[in-house]
Amino acid sequence: MRNLEEIKNKALVEIEKASDLLDLEKIWRKYLGRKKGEITKILRNIRNLPEKERPLVGKKANEVKEIVKSAIDKKKIKLISQKEIKFEKIDITRPGKKIKYGHFHPLTLIKNQVRDIFYSMGFEILEGPEIETDYYNFEALNMPEGHPARDFWDTFYLKEKTFKKTKLLLRTHTSPMQIRVMEKKKPPLRVCVIGKCFRREATDASHEHTLYQIEGFAVDENISVANLIYTLKSFLSNLFNQKVEIRLRPSYFPFVEPGFELDVRCLNCLGKGCPVCSYTGWVETLGCGMIHPKVFEAVDYPKDKYTGFAFGIGLDRLAMMKYKINDIRWFHSGDLRFIRQF
Ligand code: FA5
Repeated sequence: MRNLEEIKNKALVEIEKASDLLDLEKIWRKYLGRKKGEITKILRNIRNLPEKERPLVGKKANEVKEIVKSAIDKKKIKLISQKEIKFEKIDITRPGKKIKYGHFHPLTLIKNQVRDIFYSMGFEILEGPEIETDYYNFEALNMPEGHPARDFWDTFYLKEKTFKKTKLLLRTHTSPMQIRVMEKKKPPLRVCVIGKCFRREATDASHEHTLYQIEGFAVDENISVANLIYTLKSFLSNLFNQKVEIRLRPSYFPFVEPGFELDVRCLNCLGKGCPVCSYTGWVETLGCGMIHPKVFEAVDYPKDKYTGFAFGIGLDRLAMMKYKINDIRWFHSGDLRFIRQF
């Protein structure tokens, strides 16, 4: 036993002194080598000892073997890391790794701008649910079941899901938020809703199945079409950083009366005619009008007390005009060559 203690101490001193991996290899062979290792020999000899001594010597020899082995392993790691540091060279003239910065998607850029402009005009900014009920998307907006206008806004329905006995669907426009807000609040209201909508569309250069809309509405006593025109003209001039010429054409939306389509004088050709405006000089930009009395009725506003305007703008189409993008499908293409330009 004393012998084993001495062997252990001797080995540990030698391991400590070892200055390279070759030294360490020699120490390993000297103590743990399969044929001539000092500890190995003691372990092999145990069977020749008196039976009484065997367990004690065996236990001690195995302990010493483990201690020496782990000291060699530790020293090995130390020597390797020292070696690596010694040989590592840093070339300080080499260019560093370039960090790629993320940035906003063009739709986010324009969404933030739109939000800031309406906020500065005193509008409250809201989002609203993307999954809607049939009631809010159609019925309360003066489109009862079977109304032909529902065909303009065909959508994706959720299978088997019903809420308070009405079907659930992906909203086709942001107009349901008119109802949701008016149900909760009394005029005066100035609200701007920016959010995602969905349509069952055959996609092309100007139609997507997933689009963003900006819904704006104001309700108070004595709101008129003049307020609507002024608000939209100010908004568009602000967004495009230039005076924007607009025109209103009569149009039909069941939730407004009268209803209009608003066109903007083509910013690409300034009205001369180009592919962007289909050579008409005007670009159809949004739907708008004066809120229909049936809508006020649906939210239990007193009859004939309030008037209001409302409009719905395609955010993607605005971004196409502002950044001169020729195909709406670029936005969700995931093509980095497109995204990196913003
Ligand atoms: C509506 O969605 C009405 N809710 C707008 C409205 C609101 C009218 C308030 C009156 C009062 P419309 O389906 O025309 O209307 O869509 C409005 C705008 O959304 C369009 O002018 C267009 O810019 C955009 N838009 C519509 N469909 C698509 C589509 N598939 N892809 C991209 N943009 C679209």
